[in-house]
Amino acid sequence: MSRPLPTVFDQALTAAVRAPSPHNTQPWRFVVTGNVIEVWLDRERVLPVADPHRREARLACGAAAFNLLVSLRSNGLAVVVRVLPDPDERDLVAVLRLDGNQKAAQAEQRLAEAVFRRHTNRRPFLDKEVSPVIRTALKSAALAEGGQVEYLDASGRYSPVASLVRQAEALQADDPAFQAEAALWTHRPPGSPDGVPMTAAGPPPDHHGVVTLRASHENAALPAREYEQQPLLAVLLTRDRGPHAEVRAGMAMQRVLLTATAEDLAASFLSQPFETPRTRQSMDRLFTGLGQPHTLLRIGYGYPTRLTARRAVTDVLTHRTAPDVPAT
Ligand SMILES: Cc1cc2nc3c(=O)[nH]c(=O)nc-3n(C[C@H](O)[C@H](O)[C@H](O)COP(=O)(O)O)c2cc1C
Repeated sequence: MSRPLPTVFDQALTAAVRAPSPHNTQPWRFVVTGNVIEVWLDRERVLPVADPHRREARLACGAAAFNLLVSLRSNGLAVVVRVLPDPDERDLVAVLRLDGNQKAAQAEQRLAEAVFRRHTNRRPFLDKEVSPVIRTALKSAALAEGGQVEYLDASGRYSPVASLVRQAEALQADDPAFQAEAALWTHRPPGSPDGVPMTAAGPPPDHHGVVTLRASHENAALPAREYEQQPLLAVLLTRDRGPHAEVRAGMAMQRVLLTATAEDLAASFLSQPFETPRTRQSMDRLFTGLGQPHTLLRIGYGYPTRLTARRAVTDVLTHRTAPDVPAT
């Protein structure tokens, strides 16, 4: 008979599944054995059209691994994290092993609390500037996990990136396979534990501004609204490229998003340019010398919107009993 899951692990896994993922696909599985939690990528839940190389899925799994980490740390546990993928086990993305006790820092507690408030906000933001102090805090959050945040207004890349977002959105609008995939995840039956519900969609813009949010995440039933004139756009990069860097980028992205949440900021994603080969190459070229770009975030002040559903921890967990289960 398998022993019950220790409470700290249960809490950490409840935090892990709150991670963001493309179209709320939740492409992860977890295996707990004794004092070890493994994070696995679930290929069945990868978007074959938008994410054929599983890059976005690895970002999502990295974010889930980071949620596990902050939850365990906020409970005063020391954790050793090994970021893979392992060449022999390509879908094993991270392994977290408990390593005794270590007093939680206040910052870690703040991030752990933010896990349950963070959500993607696709509504208009206020035209209020994010202060230099907070911009620096978000940069430091990325650096702490081996990532890098570049603000597009500061780097002169604002217009070229915004134009790539529009180009990719247009290419995807003309691609029936992409449209079918998006529809599959944005028209789930009521009460579905995955996908993006209409309650999480934004109103249509009253005119097309500098950047375009995904049309598939728009709620046409809402009256059109004005979006902020020039949202703060941040690209998340890593020095290296490849699967390992993508998991690391996911961890850094999540630390940035949780830090933003703790500062009462809202955020949403603009992933379109990473999802068509031509615009992805252009993104890579634009950031040559700085690093590998992984995702594009829109950050600002908004009014909180509803959280989206998740599958239950029991649906994504394999619990193997081992003799050294930690005490709770
Ligand atoms: C790698 C990645 C890419 C994403 N791309 C987009 C996007 O282009 N547009 C968007 O509106 N949301 C995007 N999202 C947000 C997801 O749709 C969102 O995380 C998911 O629906 C769960 O909702 P939540 O973030 O509110 O918890 C992305 C999330 C991740 C992790």
